[in-house]
Amino acid sequence: MTKLPALLTIGEVAHRSGVAQTALRFYEERGLITSTRTTGNQRRYQRAVLRRLAFIRAAQRVGLSLEQISDALATLPDDHAPTKADWARLSKRWRDELDARIDGLQRLRDNLTGCIGCGCLSLRTCVLHNPEDRYAELGPGAPLLRPTTDPKA
Ligand code: FES
Repeated sequence: MTKLPALLTIGEVAHRSGVAQTALRFYEERGLITSTRTTGNQRRYQRAVLRRLAFIRAAQRVGLSLEQISDALATLPDDHAPTKADWARLSKRWRDELDARIDGLQRLRDNLTGCIGCGCLSLRTCVLHNPEDRYAELGPGAPLLRPTTDPKA
């Protein structure tokens, strides 16, 4: 196994991480990763960026937004690659949100059975528009389209 140099070019980072150079530039613009510049204005990355990229990809894979990932990475020093303990701590914070998302998707899947092959997309009865029939308490018809007494409401 060849030893990595202390500083990596953007091509080396892309090759090692499997992340496209355009994505690396984008992550850098969003502050998720950082680089230094050579006198010729070429990017150079610390080796630690590879762990940071692995962290970003893993977090994206579980459906977290770049903003959430950015917030999490902001709790780490810039030159610090997320450690196993960091990942454990940060992923624990996301667990409740992921559980809620999974629960919502499972409910959607279970309710979707009635939609399969239907295609009505009814504002009143379709679970995709009206999950758990939450507009029923507003009365019959199209309650969301009724004029209100206060036109500014
Ligand atoms: S598409 Fe008809 S009930 Fe959902």
